[in-house]
Amino acid sequence: MNIPPFSRHRRLRRSSTLRELFTETELSLNDLVLPIFVDESATDFVPIKSMPGVFRIPESRLESEIERYARAGIRSVMTFGISRHKDDVGTDTWQQGGLVARMASRIKATAPEIVVMSDTCFCEYTTHGHCGVVNDGIVENDSTLISLGKQAVIAAQAGADVIAPSTAMDGQVAAIRAALDANGLTDTPVFSYSTKFASALYGPFREAAESELQGDRKAYQMNPMNRREAVLESLEDERQGADALMVKPAGAYLDIIRDIREATRLPLGAYQVSGEYAMIKFAAAAGAIDEARVVRESIGAIKRAGADVIFTYFAMDLAQQGL
Ligand code: PBG
Ligand code: ZN
Repeated sequence: MNIPPFSRHRRLRRSSTLRELFTETELSLNDLVLPIFVDESATDFVPIKSMPGVFRIPESRLESEIERYARAGIRSVMTFGISRHKDDVGTDTWQQGGLVARMASRIKATAPEIVVMSDTCFCEYTTHGHCGVVNDGIVENDSTLISLGKQAVIAAQAGADVIAPSTAMDGQVAAIRAALDANGLTDTPVFSYSTKFASALYGPFREAAESELQGDRKAYQMNPMNRREAVLESLEDERQGADALMVKPAGAYLDIIRDIREATRLPLGAYQVSGEYAMIKFAAAAGAIDEARVVRESIGAIKRAGADVIFTYFAMDLAQQGL
């Protein structure tokens, strides 16, 4: 038998040391951000049923929890508040001493070296659960921009290292940049949720954040079927002055991560969202997959696609495993 010529790729896979020597993508805690839910009224940790292993942190336990993360090697967190002070516009988010401000100041006072990213939105603070000001059933873009600027300034003044707007309003970066600069906060970076899809994978987050949302966010978040528009959205936020861009969700959008990686030189983040977490957790609990391996594979794939920073609820598990 005459076999045509072929290459022997197996030569570099013969031992684990060889395989590691030739690894193109490596995970590091430096690149991971742990999203956390801080409940201003809970008296104990509240398990989130659709996200096994994730808890709402009572505000009174925030300091000890942050100390635990820091000891484990977590470098960055993204804060989400569970508010008992909801109204129709989310006023609490721009109150001095409101939950957004308290999360940032308490974390920075506890572990100043931890990077605090303040998720900058309104849906956890509005009675209707939308990400902005609602008028006649429509989420108003430009009035939401005014609120965004106010919230960003309060968060940054309270100590947030990074402002991360997730409202999916047009102009969110420009409005926040202008407000920060007008208040002398010229050195506070904006990490925009620049390409954010109206995804069904946010389901568990709605339970976690106790969102009151009726309906959906399709009038402001992106159509998951659109690839060209996904790049336009991020490039527009770059033009408005974003310091870093983001794709959300991550795992089902690796093509988008790659497209944006090739279209810009800005740092790029990707958010492995609550539904991605839940799918892995429940499949592992059913014995269908090996959780630790699938977690590394999924996060590795997001990095390989081009993400520099990965937001993941698995960050603490990975830290505890010594990554
Ligand atoms: C709200 C917000 C959402 C997430 C992050 N910020 C939910 C949404 O847009 O409906 C999703 C996070 C997740 O699912 O893990 N602005
Ligand atoms: Zn929102």
